[in-house]
Amino acid sequence: MAKPLVADYIQNLTPYPPGKPIEELEREYGVRNSIKLASNENALGPSPKAVEAIKAALGKLHRYPDGSGYYLKQGLSEKLGLSTENIVLGNGSNELIELIVRTFLNPGDEAISSDPTFLVYRKMVQAVGGRNIVVPLKEGSHDLVGIAKAVTARTKVIFLDNPNNPMGTVVVKKAFEQFLKDIPPGVIVVADEAYYDFVTTDSTFCGLDYLDSPYLVITLRTFSKAYGLAGLRIGYGVMKKELAEYINRIRQPFNVNSLAQVGALAALSDEEHLAGTKKMVEEGLNYLTGEIGRLGYRCLPTQTNFFLIDTKTDGKAVYENLLRKGVIVRPMHAYKLPDYIRITVGLPAENKRFLSAFKEVMESRGRQ
Ligand SMILES: Cc1ncc(COP(=O)(O)O)c(C=O)c1O
Repeated sequence: MAKPLVADYIQNLTPYPPGKPIEELEREYGVRNSIKLASNENALGPSPKAVEAIKAALGKLHRYPDGSGYYLKQGLSEKLGLSTENIVLGNGSNELIELIVRTFLNPGDEAISSDPTFLVYRKMVQAVGGRNIVVPLKEGSHDLVGIAKAVTARTKVIFLDNPNNPMGTVVVKKAFEQFLKDIPPGVIVVADEAYYDFVTTDSTFCGLDYLDSPYLVITLRTFSKAYGLAGLRIGYGVMKKELAEYINRIRQPFNVNSLAQVGALAALSDEEHLAGTKKMVEEGLNYLTGEIGRLGYRCLPTQTNFFLIDTKTDGKAVYENLLRKGVIVRPMHAYKLPDYIRITVGLPAENKRFLSAFKEVMESRGRQ
C-alpha cells in the first residue's frame, strides 16, 4: 500500500471555513451595501496615523523588511515599560500562537484549552501532532481549577484567552494567581489578550505583570482589534527573554512585513483613534444590548467589542436570514452554541441596521 501523503493528524484537520468575499456574498444573496459584524474588527477603520505612515513607506517596498522589527519593538518597549528582548513580533497574533506551538510542543505533548475558545489554538496543536486537552468553560468562564487538574507530565502549554472569545468573559486576578501556584514549572501559560483594550473591569489580571515572576506566562496582543489593523497582520508576544530566544530560532527572518511595522508603530501613538474606538464600542454596546433586551432576547455581558445573543431558536437559520438582508454576523454552531449568534459592535448606523434586520428576522420566524 502506498504510504499516506500526510500524517493522520493532518488528514483529520478541518480547514478554516473560508468566508466568501463580501462582493461574492452580495451577488449570491442579491443584496447591496451589506455590513460585516462578524469578525470582531474595528468598525471605525484603521488608525489614520497608521495609514499615513504606510503611505509614506510604500516607495520602499522593493526592500526586505527589518527582520528585527527594531523601531516597533522600541516603541512597544517604551509604551509597556519592558525590554525589547522580551518582545517577539508576529504576522498577527495567530502567527505567535503557531510559533509557540511549533517551538515548545513535540508530537504527543499536550496543550490545554477551554471549550469554547478561539479555535486556532487547537488547530495549531493538531497540526504539529500535539494532543489537545479540552476543558469546558464553567459558567461562561475559564475553569481554572479544572484546567490545573488536567495538567499531566506531558502538558507543555495552556491557552487562556482573556477576555474569552466567544463569551466575552474575563478571569479574575485572584483566581489566576491561585491557578499559577497550581501549575508545575515548565508549563507555559499563554494569556491571549487580543481584546484587552476593551476591558472595562479592573478585576482581571494583566499577563505583563508576570513577566518577572517565576511563572512562564506569555502575553499575546494584536493590532487587529482596537487599533483597526486586521488586514495588515501584526501582533506581538511578551515573554521571558529565554522563551523569546527559542521562538526567534524558528521564526522566518522576515515574518512581519514592512508596512505592518510602520503602521503598527504609528498606531501605537494614535491615542485619539484608540479613545474614539473605545467610545464607539461602549456606546454601541449600550445601545444594542438595551434594544435587543427590549425585543425580548438576552445578550451575554461582555468585556470586548462583541457579544453573544441567545436567539432562542436555530442561530444558524437566524444568521442565514440576516445574510439575506445584507447583515453578516457569526453563527455559533462551530462553538457548540447552536442557539447563539455573535455580533461585533459596529458604527451607529450599522448597529441600527442590524437591529431592524434582527427584529424583522425574529418576527418572521415567530410567525412561521
Ligand atoms: C482570542 C483571539 N486571539 C487572537 C486572535 C487573532 O488575532 P490576529 O488578527 O492578531 O491574528 C483573535 C481574532 O479573532 C481572537 O479572537
